[in-house]
This record gives sequence, C-alpha cells and structure tokens, in this order.
Amino acid sequence: MIRKLLIAALLFPLVWFGSAAMHFPRVFQVMLMIYIMLGLGVFLLLDAPSIPRVEGRKAVAALVAFYLVISAAYILGASYLPQYDPAVEMSKIEKIVKPKLETPEARRARLEELLKKSEELQAKTETLQAKLEKLAPAPKPAVEVQTAAAGPTDLIARGKEVYELQECYNCHKIGGKGSVKKRGPELDNIGNLLTQEDIKKKVFDPGYLYADGFEKEHKKGLMPDKYKELMTDEEVTALAAYLTTLKNPAAPTPKPIFVKTKVEHGFIVYGYVRDKNGKPVPDLPVTAQPLKPGREGHTGKTNKEGYYEIFLHIHNEDVGTKIEVSANNVKKEITANYNPDDKVTKRQAAVDLVL
Ligand code: HEC
Repeated sequence: MIRKLLIAALLFPLVWFGSAAMHFPRVFQVMLMIYIMLGLGVFLLLDAPSIPRVEGRKAVAALVAFYLVISAAYILGASYLPQYDPAVEMSKIEKIVKPKLETPEARRARLEELLKKSEELQAKTETLQAKLEKLAPAPKPAVEVQTAAAGPTDLIARGKEVYELQECYNCHKIGGKGSVKKRGPELDNIGNLLTQEDIKKKVFDPGYLYADGFEKEHKKGLMPDKYKELMTDEEVTALAAYLTTLKNPAAPTPKPIFVKTKVEHGFIVYGYVRDKNGKPVPDLPVTAQPLKPGREGHTGKTNKEGYYEIFLHIHNEDVGTKIEVSANNVKKEITANYNPDDKVTKRQAAVDLVL
C-alpha cells in the first residue's frame, strides 16, 4: 500500500507540471489529477479485505444497490466534466456549408426577398423623412446618420462571425482571447498596419506577406492556404473589414513584410569584378549560364564600382544546377543551392571575379 501511495505521490506533480509544460488547458490538468486519484482508488481497493459472503435475496439486493450507486456516481461525475455538444458543432458546420449548397433558384429567391425588404424600408424612410420635414427641418440629419451607420456595423458583425466560423482563433488572439499556444501573431493592432485590401489578399494567399518575426512559421506554411476555397468574396470582405477596426497601438501585433517578388521564379547572381590590383572594372559584360539544357543564360554589365547583378529564370526543380559565371576569359562555377520549400528568402549567390 505504501508503494502505491508513493507512486501516486510521484505521479501528481509529474503529470501536473508535464501537462502545464505542454500547454494543456487548466481544466484538462484537473481532469488528469482526477484520473490519477481514481486509479489510485482502484489499486487500493484491490488490497481491501473481502466483505462477508451473502446469499439469496440479500445477494440480489446488494448487487442491484451496487449498480445503482456506481451508475449514479458515473452520471453525476460525468455531468460535472466539460461537455462536447454535437449540436453546437453541427450548427457551425451548417453555417459554413449551407450558403454553398444553396441552389441558384433559392439564392435568387433570397436575394429578391432582400431587395423587396430594402425597397420597403426605403419607402418607409422616405415617408418618415417627409413627415419629419413637415414637423421640423432640424431632426433630418439624425435620420441620415442612423441609416448610414447601419451598413458598416452589420458588415463588421458579419466579419466577426466569419472570424469565429473559420476558427482563426485557433492560431490568433484578439482581446487576449484565442490560441492557447502561441501559433500566430496577435491581431489587436492589425487595423493600423494593414489595409482591408491587404488583409483580403493575405487570407486568400498567405504567401502575399508575413508577420515580422514569424519568418520560420511563414516558410513552413503554417497559416493554411485553404480559405480561397472556404470563403466567398462577401465573407472575406466582411472579415477584412472587421479586422481593420482593430486598432490598439499598445498590442504587440508584428508589422507585415511584403513578399514582393515570388522568389520561386528566379535566382540572382551578383558580385564585383576587379583587376589584379583590386580596382573595379566598369562597363564589362558578365555572363551567367546555367549548365542545364533549356535554361537560358543572361548577361549584365558592371557599373562604376564594378558591381553587376544577373537575374536567371531558375525554378524549384532546378535546385543544384551548376551556373558558370564569366567575364573576359575568367570563369567561375557555382551551384544554385536553395530550399525549394522556402518561399521567402531571396535565392542568390555572390560571385566575385578577378581579371
Ligand atoms: C494554423 C494557424 C493559423 C490559422 C488557422 C490562421 N492563421 Fe493567420 N497567421 C498564422 C501565422 C503563423 C502567421 C505569421 C506568419 C505569416 O504571416 O505567414 C499568420 C499571420 C496572419 C496575418 C498577418 C499578421 C501581421 O501581423 O502581419 C493576418 C492578418 C492573419 N494571419 C489573419 C488570419 C485570419 C483572418 C485567419 C482566419 C481566416 C487566420 N489568419 C488563420 C497562422 C494561422
């Protein structure tokens, strides 16, 4: 018995701190503690002295009572634990899938109904406005402000809903809520850093830009490249509109870095050409030729400082290709080395020549 107690005493801190290090939510940690306690109880019971033997009706009654007690304990115990509610998950899925399943006719009917409603509203506003004008000209602006404000707030509420439906919170935090483990940047100040248009582009094409300090995650392609298939234009517009309202300069939202050129499409060879005395050689043609059939070479000229830059069309599958760099009759051979999965780092090599 002492051995069993000792093992449990060891397990409690081990599991508690272990699960904390793995960023388990607190409620799961408590559950694990309960499991250890239950396990300990079972093992201790194994050593308990057996109860006196009963027979006949008494035995049946004891068995039924035993079942009742155990069942009650299970049901009560389980009802205290966090519950997974299939209905909640189903409604989430439905919200995402339903607009896509809508038939064209149903969509038209819905749009027509909306149109009719808006016409009715318009008519109502007009009669109201006419009445107001009769009463007094002053209250008119109030009506105008109200109708103007109704649009954007709807859009932003819709954007918030899209954010929840697409579960961006799995990796991002807004207002301290979301991602337990730091997967992606907090977005509380994104409205001061990105325009609505840029956010739309980032969501539909995560390679478009990346958050400063998240190069590694960006190269790994952590932010999913699937939203183009999951969202309509209306949804991503609302989502972006909502995110641009997040303007808290105190939040540590990293600034975006735009990936200007698609690095997958090229390789740059650059360097200096100097003579034996170390003086730059200007206006000299330099040629870079990939030593692979079908890959075109290009020629550039050195500037006053003897510097040149040549852009070659070398793609992902050309990694490891040898490139010959030559000027006058001096030649150097290099190998195009880069990581084909890396879509951020510029692909380039420095080659200095001495004539
Ligand atoms: C699986 C994790 C994950 C999910 C889900 C995810 N993101 Fe990201 N997101 C990241 C990571 C990691 C970065 C930083 C690297 C990068 O920019 O690619 C990022 C960057 C961003 C940025 C740039 C932030 C900055 O400071 O420049 C925006 C904006 C963004 N995400 C919006 C969204 C939106 C909106 C959704 C939901 C539709 C979403 N993300 C879903 C992981 C995720």
